[in-house]
Amino acid sequence: MCGIIGILSNKEVSSTIIDVLKKLEYRGYDSAGIATIFDNEIRRQRAKGKIENLVNLISENDLPGTIGIGHTRWATHGIPSEDNAHPHHVGSVVGVHNGIIENFREIKEELINKGYKFQSDTDTEVIIQLCSHYINNGYNNRDAFFKTIGRLEGAFALCFMFKNDEEKLYVTRRSAPLVIGYGKKDVFVGSDAVSLSNLIESVIFLDEDDVAILSKKQTNIYDKLGERVDRKKKSVDLNSDIISKGNYQHFMLKEIHEQPEVFGYATSSFINFKTHKIEMLNEIKELDNVDRLIFVACGTAYFACAVAKFWFEKYVKVPVEIDVASEFRYRDTSFSKNEYAIFVSQSGETADTLAALRKVKGKVKKTISVVNVVESSIARESEFVLPIKAGPEIGVASTKAFTAQLAVLACLAINFSNKRGLISKKENSELIDELVSVPGIMSNIIKKTSIYKEFARKLMKAKNALFLGRGILYPLALEAALKLKEISYIHAEGYPSGELKHGPIALVDKKMPVICFAPVNNLFEKTISNVQEVQARNGKVLLITDDEGASRLNSSEISMIKLPKFSNFISPIIYAIPSQLIAYYTALYKGTDIDKPRNLAKSVTVE
Ligand code: AGP
Repeated sequence: MCGIIGILSNKEVSSTIIDVLKKLEYRGYDSAGIATIFDNEIRRQRAKGKIENLVNLISENDLPGTIGIGHTRWATHGIPSEDNAHPHHVGSVVGVHNGIIENFREIKEELINKGYKFQSDTDTEVIIQLCSHYINNGYNNRDAFFKTIGRLEGAFALCFMFKNDEEKLYVTRRSAPLVIGYGKKDVFVGSDAVSLSNLIESVIFLDEDDVAILSKKQTNIYDKLGERVDRKKKSVDLNSDIISKGNYQHFMLKEIHEQPEVFGYATSSFINFKTHKIEMLNEIKELDNVDRLIFVACGTAYFACAVAKFWFEKYVKVPVEIDVASEFRYRDTSFSKNEYAIFVSQSGETADTLAALRKVKGKVKKTISVVNVVESSIARESEFVLPIKAGPEIGVASTKAFTAQLAVLACLAINFSNKRGLISKKENSELIDELVSVPGIMSNIIKKTSIYKEFARKLMKAKNALFLGRGILYPLALEAALKLKEISYIHAEGYPSGELKHGPIALVDKKMPVICFAPVNNLFEKTISNVQEVQARNGKVLLITDDEGASRLNSSEISMIKLPKFSNFISPIIYAIPSQLIAYYTALYKGTDIDKPRNLAKSVTVE
């Protein structure tokens, strides 16, 4: 993920910007840049590769100025290059960006038709060009900035400067992190408080869609409607939790909220936005005679494999086997040289998954691992590694790693389908566009906190709970049950809705909450009849559906959470968000140790 720094000071800022960029290296990057304003001129240096390359450039061409911005870029739209590195500069506007703009192509076409020329392949330059366009059309800096933001869709954080305004930084965030830090005399903007920790004494965490216009003397913060709002300044010291957890009470909540940004990066690292193709595992040229794909994992990672099974069966059209590693490693299985084995693991150190990998090596065609920690044992011992790049996941209950695993597995399914020539150009583009739309949908769903809190207040009193799902949402029922039980200690089971009559319905009474995932799709009517079976036995039903589903059911006795309409393809990714938030708030009201639940470890490195 990209890293942002902005500084307003009384002294030269370039060396401090470089120091902070070095602290942001952990976010992953392939180029870096810095810009300052001095004597009403924008000065800029950018370099591909490590920050040292940028330092060498600046040592030859100094960057004077007491206002500046810096950026570490992790390539999404456009290859790693100097032209694609931030800051981007057009006319009187210069800025840096973290995140993914979903509608950049449409805006870029509009500007090209107006005669604007582009120097890069990035979505970021489109934002800067758009802002410059508004200035060319008579808007002042503030209004041009607001108008620009009003056009953007996706998850992003921005920090802009304007040549004729060398006292101010203009910033905003939507589902991507950005904090304002205050030192003794200087004002900072950063992607996280950690990278500023030795420079600041207090922070303001911007809310979703806040816009801030900062000078050394004044911080003006506005909501998305342009109304002035007040955000509390929190004092911090080097070791305060605020530095690591940010504005969140728990790491789990912070990581739930990071998902739009993380998902956007996980997918865009494999999407070539120019060719509109998924590029991964280029060494695997052909996939004609594949006998079987085997997916092995534990816990939440296993449920990600259970979702992926639907995608690979539908789009890759080969037999798919999924298994929990602790079972797979001891089974007497036979393998063929025309099989691929995929191992999914956030930590990359889970003992059972590592043992399963070692069991198949040399017996299948290739081993592939989908991991968050690329230097882990599972990654090192796999022939191919697909990183999910979710950043450190501290909460024991896996959230952003789960949806990032789904991001990579969805890309792999599309990539394999293309390699087998089974998907049309149109369908390929449609699926990619759906993946690109996920961060924006996630961000809108995450905001609706009150809905999840209201349901959690009821759920916290329950001793048991049942989660139901059909088809590609059955694995979500399993994952949602795991989330609830591992952090709230309420016993919860996930079941395929169609299995209710084969036993679990005996459990249903007025004390048994039944949470049912029911988007309107080919299985909706069947799921609804299962819901009615529960209702007939006084079960308490929470239906998570979409507007159409809610109107078709239209029952006052059923609590409902209505999600926007989206395709079956991305439904398991989106439905993970309400599942996580219901579990989180239930545990919060129960007062359990959410980030470190009893008896659990973040990585199970023993059998
Ligand atoms: C999920 O919330 C749990 N923390 C646990 O099931 C976890 O997914 C499992 O232990 C696998 O861990 P891994 O992804 O690091 O291999």
